[in-house]
Amino acid sequence: MTKHYYIETMGCQMNEYDSDHLSRILEDSGYLRASEPEQADFVLLNTCAVRAKAEQKALSRLGRLTSLKRKNPRLLLAVAGCVAQHRGAELFERFPGLNLVLGPREIGNFRAILERARSSGTRVAAIDAHGTPTSFWGGFDYFQHNVKAYLTIMEGCNNFCSYCIVPYARGRETSRPPEELLKEARSLTLQGVKEITLLGQNVNSYAYEKIRFPGLLQAMNEMEGLYRIRFTTSHPKDLSPELIQCFGRLEKLCAHIHLPFQAGSNRVLKAMKRGYTAEKYMDLIGELRAAMPGIALTSDVMVGFPGETDEDFERTLDLIRKVEFDNLFSFKYSDRVGTPAAKMEDKIPETRKLARLERLQELQRKITLKKNKELLGRSLEVLVEGASKKKTGFTGRTSTNKVVNFISDKRYISKLINVTIKRASFNSLWGELTFP
Ligand code: SAH
Ligand code: SF4
Ligand code: F3S
Repeated sequence: MTKHYYIETMGCQMNEYDSDHLSRILEDSGYLRASEPEQADFVLLNTCAVRAKAEQKALSRLGRLTSLKRKNPRLLLAVAGCVAQHRGAELFERFPGLNLVLGPREIGNFRAILERARSSGTRVAAIDAHGTPTSFWGGFDYFQHNVKAYLTIMEGCNNFCSYCIVPYARGRETSRPPEELLKEARSLTLQGVKEITLLGQNVNSYAYEKIRFPGLLQAMNEMEGLYRIRFTTSHPKDLSPELIQCFGRLEKLCAHIHLPFQAGSNRVLKAMKRGYTAEKYMDLIGELRAAMPGIALTSDVMVGFPGETDEDFERTLDLIRKVEFDNLFSFKYSDRVGTPAAKMEDKIPETRKLARLERLQELQRKITLKKNKELLGRSLEVLVEGASKKKTGFTGRTSTNKVVNFISDKRYISKLINVTIKRASFNSLWGELTFP
């Protein structure tokens, strides 16, 4: 009888990429995809541990999935991702029905691990944090018909920002060989992928022998059939002048960078161990805008880091006003056990964190809306991704990564077209095809 698998993914794009690989391996081993966990023989939850809430969500979902075992005792239940790596075998105690704990660095060995879990009937914890990142599988037909794809080029983080769990969950920085990455990118473009987002926790720290990140971008830029390249996430301290110069110089590199700043107060940045000051961050923004006028800027920011005063928080708002980000991902600081910040004194009460977050988000909403409205009447190049969710038309993104909806037809999917912007909201833009 045919076996079915079900994968649910939480967390960042790196988890999505890993889930795609796991699906691919499962399909290669004869499994078919199920749309509900109830119909599956193998269920995997790919988890995130970045904030306490994400981890709680993962654990409660895992609890609910464990209950499926009552109806189907032969079900194989697996947990992957950062919670799996961080908590390891202790998860078996909490969830007796769990069969497999799989760390992100073990995905390359997944086929053998799955076989071990399946045949032995014993619990398997595969959580070596030193393994090489997922490597090339050959023939990514799983991604077929997608206009856009992810490509993880490096794993792990060496920065140990004082609040962050990622270095403990994803291990040390390891870059994949450029030949392998180009082969994978080639395979994606042959299947119709037009836009590739290069992924890494610190994507711009990519280094493999003599090849550094700008060199890899240059090589990707020469790839036939590929229209657009993006990358995420960059760390300000590793944003080299060579990388800044890639904007505007490499024609496939999109006009957007996601550059987390986290806080606007130098005292807080120091306590966070970020390795730059607010002034240095502003200099980088100036250099990026000089290299590519109109480049879109997005960022991550946190409020309520231990000891953050009203004055510190005002510095964060000042930086947001000065930069005018196109969009911001903002979070309340959350204690992660095992990180230095969790042991710091002077924790900020939840209510104050929330009040700061709301003020910050209100400010950013106005900036995002203002920036989107500035696009009214302009004709922008859009890569068409497919039918929009509301099914009333089609959707795509600008080079600056803004969502544009428009009425069109199927023949433009995966093509670059020009759209004149007619309406702009906080979340998206609406337009009409611009005909020459
Ligand atoms: N490598 C990336 C970020 C990875 S985590 C970078 O250095 O920028 C994604 C975002 O989650 C971070 O940018 C940060 O804003 C947020 N984050 C990380 N740890 C957090 C914590 N303990 N509490 C709240 N937010 C956190
Ligand atoms: Fe976490 Fe800092 Fe590494 Fe980003 S750079 S993953 S915030 S430790
Ligand atoms: Fe979450 Fe791990 Fe990504 S903690 S954000 S899934 S690297």
